[in-house]
Amino acid sequence: MNNFIFHSPTKFVFGKDTEKEVGQLLKSYKAKKVLIHYGTGSIKRSGLFDRVVDSIEEANIEYVELGGVVPNPRDTLVYEGIDLCKKENVDFVLAVGGGSAIDSAKAIAAGAKYDGDFWDFYDHKAEMKDALKIGVILTIPAAGSEGSASAVITKTDGMLKRGFYSQFYRPQFSIINPELTYTLPTYQTSAGIVDMMGHIFERYLTKSDNTLFVDRLAEGTLVSIIEAGKKLMEEPTNYDARSVICWAGTIAHNGFFGVGRVEDWASHRLEHELSALYDVTHGAGLAVMYPAYMKYTIDEDIERYKRFAIKVFGVQEEGKSDKDIALEGIEKLEEFYKEIAMPTRFEGIHAKKEDINKLVEKLKENVGKTFGHFKELTMEDAKKIYELACS
Ligand code: NZQ
Ligand code: ZN
Repeated sequence: MNNFIFHSPTKFVFGKDTEKEVGQLLKSYKAKKVLIHYGTGSIKRSGLFDRVVDSIEEANIEYVELGGVVPNPRDTLVYEGIDLCKKENVDFVLAVGGGSAIDSAKAIAAGAKYDGDFWDFYDHKAEMKDALKIGVILTIPAAGSEGSASAVITKTDGMLKRGFYSQFYRPQFSIINPELTYTLPTYQTSAGIVDMMGHIFERYLTKSDNTLFVDRLAEGTLVSIIEAGKKLMEEPTNYDARSVICWAGTIAHNGFFGVGRVEDWASHRLEHELSALYDVTHGAGLAVMYPAYMKYTIDEDIERYKRFAIKVFGVQEEGKSDKDIALEGIEKLEEFYKEIAMPTRFEGIHAKKEDINKLVEKLKENVGKTFGHFKELTMEDAKKIYELACS
């Protein structure tokens, strides 16, 4: 196990009706004027927005609102939010929604405390030294942004989708009420499941030594997500299954599974190019990339993939070679994706083989010559993985 610092200071408030506590929570952080930032309307349709406003008003806190965050959030709305925060002297940004609203809120919080262009951070031209405080009411378990230190934004000019990591991006608090996720379309529930599993894979696939303790925690969490995910396909309002998915999705990406090891992130890099080019849902793009990435890197560490097959999918060992067991694990993963109605090939997300060169060019612009740590990949490797994802 490598040396590590694990600092996840977010206060998680979990359970039924917890969104009603938002006013008091904001008060405890001395918020005076809050920006309520949200997506394209689901929180208004469900009545959540009204409950949030009631709680904020009861706590005598002022607020302004900015909706309209689209999935794969854009820089254009971030600029609007920054101007609004500066004009209105906002001191706290509250995201109500999923990864897109939260990431947009994080970028606004950083930009409001910076005199230059917030994209400087994403261009690695400036160091983040401050940000407004951020709070979250989560409505979709997926991206893990409610506990993570990162935010992914797409620059509309050139459609560059980039992530930025900073401790200033850790929310002060995140309210997680599993009941708020009952209204999710199945596609979004499933894409969220793929995403949170992916956040575990990015840490599980490591070359670091002596990682068994956290590997076992990761395997147990994956088993629980799969079990709860299957349950939700039949019973979308099963509170216990929603709870598992909500909490697993949060710890999958708050750094818990990354301690003591070098993380990978190659599949996420590959996927971000898909969501940038086709505006595809991130989790659906990942369901296409993981089987291809795993098949491509299987020989890097057959033992690890074999362990994954046995511990997560219960693959039987008898009479099989190590590689066959490992491959069966990847097949089982693919079967699970299909079971929760996720695409597993390019055509399922309307991606085109003819675009592979374009995807690789953009990838190079974003990551440089190589990427990934489980296997250091070149642009030639990226091309082959995208090709595998077509067939
Ligand atoms: O626009 P609204 O009304 O919010 O509708 C959303 C959106 O259409 C809808 N939705 C959310 N909660 C709902 C609901 N519909 C009905 N009932 C509810 N309770 O679902 C759709 C997807 O929402 P979005 O916020 O885009 O989903 P997600 O949480 O998957 O976020 C995806 C974004 O997060 C980034 C992705 O790249 C993508 O841009 N990621 C962020 C990370 C981070 N900050 O740490 C890490 C991830 O790997 C990921 O890259
Ligand atoms: Zn992700």
